[in-house]
Amino acid sequence: MHSFAYRNESLHCENVNLADIARAVGTPTFVYSKKTITDNLAAFRKALAPLDAHVAYAVKACSSKAILQLMAQQGAGFDIVSGGELWRIINAGGDPTLCTYAGVGKTEAEIRYALEKGIYCFNCESEEELRAIDRIAGSMGMKAPVAVRVNPNVDAHTHKYITTGTNENKFGVDITRIEQLYATMAAEMPNLHIKGLQMHIGSQLTEVQPFVMAIEKVAPIAKKFKELYGIEFWSIGGGVGIIYDGCLASGSPEWWQQHPEQMTIESYAAAIIPLLQPLGLRILVEPGRRIVGNAAAMLTTCLYEKKGEAKCFKIIDAGMNDIIRPALYEGYHEIWPVQQHHGDTITADVVGPVCESGDFQAQNREIADVKPGEVLAEMSAGAYGFSMSSTYNSRPLAAEVLVDGDKWQVIRRRQTLEEIICGEEGLD
Ligand code: LLP
Repeated sequence: MHSFAYRNESLHCENVNLADIARAVGTPTFVYSKKTITDNLAAFRKALAPLDAHVAYAVKACSSKAILQLMAQQGAGFDIVSGGELWRIINAGGDPTLCTYAGVGKTEAEIRYALEKGIYCFNCESEEELRAIDRIAGSMGMKAPVAVRVNPNVDAHTHKYITTGTNENKFGVDITRIEQLYATMAAEMPNLHIKGLQMHIGSQLTEVQPFVMAIEKVAPIAKKFKELYGIEFWSIGGGVGIIYDGCLASGSPEWWQQHPEQMTIESYAAAIIPLLQPLGLRILVEPGRRIVGNAAAMLTTCLYEKKGEAKCFKIIDAGMNDIIRPALYEGYHEIWPVQQHHGDTITADVVGPVCESGDFQAQNREIADVKPGEVLAEMSAGAYGFSMSSTYNSRPLAAEVLVDGDKWQVIRRRQTLEEIICGEEGLD
């Protein structure tokens, strides 16, 4: 569920007409619904209530200050992957003691910073990393809280670039080696506090089965580690998918009734709770996409139309630098005109101004036959949208807006050209 729908022929986010935002702020602009974000967080908490469960929002999905503030206000924890993300949490008023810190390549400076700020736990990915954290914590006279990411070797059935839980991926420690590693930690690394166990099998999963398989595979290990080392938590990672194809329609409860096969937060929870409850561990979940993905659309303006021998191109003012998902993962995002069309569709490629053939948002897509000047909304843009954007081709970062009921505010003004080159030095 989300809060984007046509009303009086115009696409709205909550009670705000997206045309008004485009007029006032320009395009490209990401527009987020506060209600959708807070509803999604609440849905995870409610569905997992039978467990001692905690949501650690995966900051990488969308790390803009106001979004993090919103999460912090609701008391969410955070799953971070860099010193920069930890800095953002603190800057947004979030609580570092609710942060888990993942990633395969933490630097010494980042490890020190996280220890100084008292994070909840490091989620570690290799023996060498554990030895580094042990050494650094020792030099600071501290004990570092750690968990290790176990790689259960389960296929998540998602795009190859966002699958992480098989032994072909760089992530985690093979399930066949994890017990030995915990034993080594306990025996040889005195400055570590073995606090938990972590796993994450991939992103944009659309079925519960891979989650169930991974949990079934790892649960006996979690149980054993509780007995042997007194671990207090198991983080089962993120990965709950969202609706990309069908996004706009999925804003209504009827759509969900007509699509009972779709995984929901509730069906995910119902499948995993019976497997997790007997362990008596604190369970962390690290959703990113499912919290913010369907909570935003990116507004963009059609600049030109070009008809060639083979194709029709709708050229828009947003590029792969604004949303890179179609180019990088063959990502599919619905594209709707803000002013509703009736029946007039065309098969076109929706492409941006960036000088790359990979700069498209849709290919061979039947879309409304929009004309130059019309504003479009690219849906499901909240997760890995703005956070993966860049200034490639010296294009300023887009603006961001948060809608709350019938009010809205700019949460990031459009970047200026001066800001793009800020930090650059000319020749001496
Ligand atoms: N926990 C860990 C350890 C992760 O690596 C990730 C995502 C998450 C949680 C959050 O996963 P989510 O709930 O958002 O699926 N840029 C790609 C997705 C990369 C995901 C990386 N890790 C995309 O746009 O599809």
